[in-house]
Amino acid sequence: MKDDERGTRRLYGRAVGKPLSKRQRGLVDTLLPKLAIPEGALDPASLFHGKREVWLEIGFGGGEQLAGQAARHPEAGFLGAEAFLEGVAKLLTQIEEGKLSNIRIRRGDARELIDQLPLASLDRIFVLFPDPWPKARHRKRRLVQPDFVTELARVMKPGARLRFATDWADYANRALADILRDGRFDWTAQRAHEWRKPPADHITTRYQEKRLGDCTPVFLDFVRR
Ligand SMILES: C[S@@+](CC[C@H](N)C(=O)[O-])C[C@H]1O[C@@H](n2cnc3c(N)ncnc32)[C@H](O)[C@@H]1O
Repeated sequence: MKDDERGTRRLYGRAVGKPLSKRQRGLVDTLLPKLAIPEGALDPASLFHGKREVWLEIGFGGGEQLAGQAARHPEAGFLGAEAFLEGVAKLLTQIEEGKLSNIRIRRGDARELIDQLPLASLDRIFVLFPDPWPKARHRKRRLVQPDFVTELARVMKPGARLRFATDWADYANRALADILRDGRFDWTAQRAHEWRKPPADHITTRYQEKRLGDCTPVFLDFVRR
């Protein structure tokens, strides 16, 4: 059986792209080790002394929304997971330029980071424009699947918020169905215009700007019961 059919946890997509600039390489070598989230069982609040909340962005890409939210919300600590080294390097540049002290990073598979977290330890999660895998035979590669939703529900506190965004209609429909089927999430939208319009606190991402999808971006906000 192929990996696709089993839906095993392989990390698809690029981990390394074009060579880093000298500055980016320097940040990866010096700043990343200081900000890297340690391996092993982890209470994320222990990484952020004096912060009221812990937020997580999964697959932060170039890090523009993560850095932007961290600058807006100094009262929260931010975990970011991204497999692609160039994205991590871009986030490090923004951390340095913005003098942001409330971000910790995992370069690698976000699902492994989530495995490390205890029950009810996060206040907010963002999954924004994840790799769409539009071909039916690649659908199992998508991040948002029933097992993944189960894990998100486990690590979210009661009342914690989840935002999922995509510009692929099939992914939006299936993710919505998977998240609601879990039974522990309430969808906050009352009317269509609420999920067709970027929420007031959304920061436009690089991938969103590329407009590669087959529908206008859909933003699905949920609250963990
Ligand atoms: C289509 S891009 C979107 C990036 C960003 N959220 C944006 O909107 O610009 C998806 C990103 O998720 C990352 N990714 C995919 N699977 C991942 C995983 N399991 N853990 C961490 N990052 C992952 C990819 O490396 C890629 O950068």
